Amino acid sequence: MARITTTKLKKMKESGEKITMLTCYDYSTAVLLDEAGVDVLLVGDSLGMVILGYDSTLPVTMAEMLHHTRAVARGAKQAMVVGDMPFMSYQVSCEEAVRNAGRFLQEAGAQAVKLEGGREVVPQIRAIVQAGIPVMGHLGLTPQHVHRLGGYSVQGKEDAARQQLLEDARLLVEVGVFAIVLECVPVDVARMVTEAVDVPTIGIGAGPYCDGQVLVTQDMLGLYRDLTPRFVRRYASLQQPVKEAVQAYIQEVKAGSFPGPAESFGWPEKEPLKVY
Ligand code: KIV
Ligand code: NA
Repeated sequence: MARITTTKLKKMKESGEKITMLTCYDYSTAVLLDEAGVDVLLVGDSLGMVILGYDSTLPVTMAEMLHHTRAVARGAKQAMVVGDMPFMSYQVSCEEAVRNAGRFLQEAGAQAVKLEGGREVVPQIRAIVQAGIPVMGHLGLTPQHVHRLGGYSVQGKEDAARQQLLEDARLLVEVGVFAIVLECVPVDVARMVTEAVDVPTIGIGAGPYCDGQVLVTQDMLGLYRDLTPRFVRRYASLQQPVKEAVQAYIQEVKAGSFPGPAESFGWPEKEPLKVY
């Protein structure tokens, strides 16, 4: 099968087929998610919290994003790989934005980039799209603005904020985004935006009317427990099985039962090796 393209995502919106997106930060997980059939792998700057252990996404650098995007791109055969532009890689100027966006495609093998914000980043999005780089927008709760927003909370609750969100979505579409992530917005706001624009909306904490959904993979697998937003559904609880496997390994190494003949080279045929 050919790789998922922006054209394919648009057709999915038109035909009502839901789009699936998951975050991914490494090669072996990329192979798994790709084989499972997810449409889009987002190398999110959530990397900073989930993988690197920072307490927000703000410290994440271009170097870190490129490093992980390369790993994901090597593992993804069919899924579209989207690189998330980190804080300060696109805010300063259109020139910096285009140069950094380009690095995700040229140096890291992504097919598109994502960046956060509405009207304030319209010039940057226009410039990146004009350079031939597909851009995914991101509205609602934009975690790179955590300090301005005063925390991580639902956005677009008041009338003015809803109106602003809708206008921002229209502006992003005008300058050529191929999709928009809606994060933490009320169900009816996400629905209004989804119906108003002709590019797919991909929701996280944005209700069922979006054209697609995205989750942080470690959240949905139950592997990350620093934060558990209400919008996460746990499809597995891998923490316990992983812990149990590690404890079994520890116990068998300590007891001398691992490694055994099957895991060793040149195991003596008569006498088992006396380790202790
Ligand atoms: O960084 C990320 O994981 C994201 C998604 C939550 C959309 O931006
Ligand atoms: Na992000």
